[in-house]
Amino acid sequence: MRTQYCGALDTSYIDQTVTLYGWIHRRRDHGGVIFLDLRDREGIVQVVFDPDTEEHFQRADRVRGEYVIRVVGRVRARTEGTINPEMVTGEIEVLGKELEVLNQAETPPFQLDEHTEVGEEVRLRYRYVDLRRPEMISKLRLRSRITSEIRHFLDENGFLDIETPILTRETPEGARDYLVPSRTHGGKFFALPQSPQLFKQLLMVSGMDRYYQIARCFRDEDLRADRQPEFTQIDIEASFLSNDQIMSITENMIRQLFQNVLDVELPPLPRMTYHEAMSRYGSDRPDLRIPLELVDIDDLMRQVEFKVFNGPANDPKGRVVALKVSGGAKLSRKEIDDYTKYISIYGARGLAWIKVNDIAAGAEGLQSPILKFMNEQVIEQLMQRLNAEDGDIIFFGADKEKIVNEAIGALRVKVGEDLNLFTCQWAPLWVVDFPMFEDDGKGNWTPLHHPFTSPSCSAEELRDNPGEALSIAYDMVLNGTELGGGSIRIHDQALQNTVFRILGIDEDRAREKFGFLLDALKFGCPPHGGLAFGLDRLVMLMTGADSIREVIAFPKTQSAHCVMTDAPGIVTQQHLRELNINLRKQPGEA
Ligand code: AMO
Ligand code: AMP
Repeated sequence: MRTQYCGALDTSYIDQTVTLYGWIHRRRDHGGVIFLDLRDREGIVQVVFDPDTEEHFQRADRVRGEYVIRVVGRVRARTEGTINPEMVTGEIEVLGKELEVLNQAETPPFQLDEHTEVGEEVRLRYRYVDLRRPEMISKLRLRSRITSEIRHFLDENGFLDIETPILTRETPEGARDYLVPSRTHGGKFFALPQSPQLFKQLLMVSGMDRYYQIARCFRDEDLRADRQPEFTQIDIEASFLSNDQIMSITENMIRQLFQNVLDVELPPLPRMTYHEAMSRYGSDRPDLRIPLELVDIDDLMRQVEFKVFNGPANDPKGRVVALKVSGGAKLSRKEIDDYTKYISIYGARGLAWIKVNDIAAGAEGLQSPILKFMNEQVIEQLMQRLNAEDGDIIFFGADKEKIVNEAIGALRVKVGEDLNLFTCQWAPLWVVDFPMFEDDGKGNWTPLHHPFTSPSCSAEELRDNPGEALSIAYDMVLNGTELGGGSIRIHDQALQNTVFRILGIDEDRAREKFGFLLDALKFGCPPHGGLAFGLDRLVMLMTGADSIREVIAFPKTQSAHCVMTDAPGIVTQQHLRELNINLRKQPGEA
């Protein structure tokens, strides 16, 4: 048996004999003495073999990188001058007495410390090698610590950990379902859950009162750095609690987590309405570390002679905003062109700007391609509204409201990052008062959260004016990422039916899809609500990783493919026959 992990050894073990198991990280031959850096989960230690131990010295001479070995040796202090302050174990080394090779290894597909030069595809193909890297181990270790802290908090607060089915019916969370064909019910399909939403509500009907689950969810949607087709939620539901109480418990959970794991004291979370977030930041997940804000200038731009501005300014669905960046006048033409290109992915057709060189000189002190369209009075009012100062740049966005919000909202974050304008390290908040529905552009209403979210108005008001109705929903946002979201649910069957009808789901279809829920609402459903956090996103933020792929042991690529196992894979004709499935096209066929 191992007596210690390699990375755990320090001067307190001097003169002790230890047994270590690990991988050869590096092997160096220094004129008759062999140095092996031996690595395990906890770190690296230097093991020295000298020719005194002949048989073992010979073996040490033959080992190569990533061989798996067992070593017995004595811990000793390193001599002055050979101490390595970079290594945790840098003050000691192990004088090897025995070495046993447990397994050989071929040259790995990439050197562990040269991973940055190999593409992500190669890292994912040989993920088991990639995961040997200390930084990957430390991320997975932190993930394990986080789930354990969360379980502890929820257990202490009376939440029961209950599993819900993976083979189930569709759960509407806004993405496509992954389907699983049924052999025993030919032609029928299970859906993998997009979330345990309906089951956790049914657990409230059954009186479980407080539920949680670290639950795997599946969504077939367009992937990004913070999305995976399968991901993990910290899923929570409780009965007889108000939205404020649910927010307070879960906020405490997150604050305690940061305190215990990172020794960071998060500020109490401010609350911002959806409307305010969209208006000031162009986003319902504003990054409040960045002090820039969108300022409405529709009223000033109605009269200007520039169609690009006066069009949206006079259109009820349009929006014209300014974004002032202090110190931005130093941006070069090329940098501004790059920003223009950057926001074009959000549909923006241009990016007008004004550089403020000398505010005291009026229009003379400004530099811009659009000054010619504005009279002195408009310019003066604009400068006043923005409190413009020398050295500022002012960017402008004019278009349909949705495009302006997305484009200038994204520009705000990009410029903030590029110019390093962050005012703090952590900026969490709650976003509240979401609209119940949004227009899908084709005249249909779609839920902003999911169809089980309670409105904050009566059923009549909801029916009469769905576009104005707000929901009792809340999202927790951290540094511009939506960490989690939830709501108070509908516990009244008639209200649930009203929402289905507004969403265009008629009675027959509602029965067919959600009959079990509608029935349950009749049999004594308590008022209830909850929320779910994205565990992968939480770990990504807490470890400082760029993508959730970095904090998932075996993630999928952006095209939802596992390059290591080559899933999804081809199945045999026989298997397809058993499932009553006929392929319209063979894989790879155009
Ligand atoms: P929602 O759909 O907002 O709510 O999901 C909750 C949280 O899960 C995370 N998340 C994801 N993480 C990685 N990859 C994905 N594809 C992905 N999709 C979502 C986000 C998000 O905030 N049932 C409701 C919750 C509730 O109402 O209780 C739900 O699933 O961090
Ligand atoms: P133009 O007269 O088309 O060259 O445009 C003058 C300036 O307005 C340029 O800097 C464009 O990038 C900018 N611009 C064009 N369309 C928009 C828009 N929809 N919103 C903001 N700026 C724009």
